[in-house]
Amino acid sequence: MGATSDHFNIPEIKTGPWTREARWKAVEDESLEAFIDYFGRAMQNRRWSPWHDLPVEEMREHGHKLSKDTVDLIEGFLGIEEYVGDYVLQGLEMFRKNRTRRNMQLQWGAEEMKHGVAWEQVLLHSGLRTEEELKAYCDQVADNRWTTAKHKGMDTPLGVSIYAMMQERATFYNYQQVRLRIREEYGMPEKVSKEERARGKEIGAAEAFRVVSVDEIAHHAIFLKIVQIHLKYFPEMTLEKMQEVFDGFQMPSLRLIPNRRNFVRAVIRTNLHDADKHLYEIHNPVLAAVGLENNEALERAVQEAKLLPKGLGPQHVTLGKNGQFVISTAAD
Ligand SMILES: [Fe+2]
Ligand SMILES: [Fe+2]
Repeated sequence: MGATSDHFNIPEIKTGPWTREARWKAVEDESLEAFIDYFGRAMQNRRWSPWHDLPVEEMREHGHKLSKDTVDLIEGFLGIEEYVGDYVLQGLEMFRKNRTRRNMQLQWGAEEMKHGVAWEQVLLHSGLRTEEELKAYCDQVADNRWTTAKHKGMDTPLGVSIYAMMQERATFYNYQQVRLRIREEYGMPEKVSKEERARGKEIGAAEAFRVVSVDEIAHHAIFLKIVQIHLKYFPEMTLEKMQEVFDGFQMPSLRLIPNRRNFVRAVIRTNLHDADKHLYEIHNPVLAAVGLENNEALERAVQEAKLLPKGLGPQHVTLGKNGQFVISTAAD
C-alpha cells in the first residue's frame, strides 16, 4: 500500500516563503501522509489478536520451564503496558485540536492495548499466574496514575513524539531480549527453526514477544518519521527538544507498577538493561536513525541550529551526521 506524496499531489519539498505558518502547514501535511502510510501498513501487515492468534497450547506445555526472573519481567511489562489508558488520555488531551495526531493516538492506543493482554495471556496459559491474581494485579495498576509531567520535555506534541521515538525503541529492545531468554529457557536455539519459519509463528511465549516486538518497532518508526518531519522544518526547536527529552529520559511507569521491586531486581539480575545498554543499544541507534553519529553531534547540531540564517527553507539546509549544517542557496 503505497500512500506516498503523489497520493495527494504534495511535492516532497515545497518552496517558500518560509513563514512560520508555511512551516507548520508543511509539518501537518507530511504528518498526515506519514500516518496514512503507517495505518495502511498496520491494516495489511500487523493485524493480530492476543485472544485468538497466540500459541497458548505451547505456552501450557513449556510454561514450567520459565525462570522466576523471566516471570517477574513479563509481569512488570504487563503493568507498564496496562497504563495504556493513561498514555492515550494524556495524548488525547494534548491533541484535541490536531486531528491527525489525535487519530494517530487512537490507533497507536488500540495497538498498545493488545500488548497488556498478550502478557496476561502468556502468564495465564503458562500456568504462572491465575486469573484471580491477574485481575488483582491489573486492579492495582489502576490505583496509580501515569502522567507526562513525570517526564522531561513531554509538554508539547513534538516532545511527546521524541519521547515515544526513544521509548518504543527501548521497548523493542527489551522485548527482543526477553524473547531470546524465553527461547533459551525453553531449550530452543536462538535462531528461529525451520518449522517455526514455515508456520510463521515462533514457539509459545516467544511468539507473543515476536509479534509485540513487530508492533513496537513500527511505533518507533512512525514517531521517528514525525520527528524527522519537524526536524526538516523546525531544526532549532526539534534539536533543542531532543536534547531536553533525551537528557531526562526514563522508561514510563517503572515506579507505578505493582511488582516494581521484583521487576527491578529481575532487570538487574538478568542484565536486561543498564546505562551502557541504553547508550549503545538504544540512544545511539536512535540518534543514527535521526542522522546523527553520536551525542557530541547532537550537541553541536543544537548549537549550530541557533545560528542558522532565518528564512532558509529545508531545500537550503542539510544536517550532516557530525551535527554540522551544510547550507546551499543553489536550490533556488
Ligand atoms: Fe507496547
Ligand atoms: Fe509501542
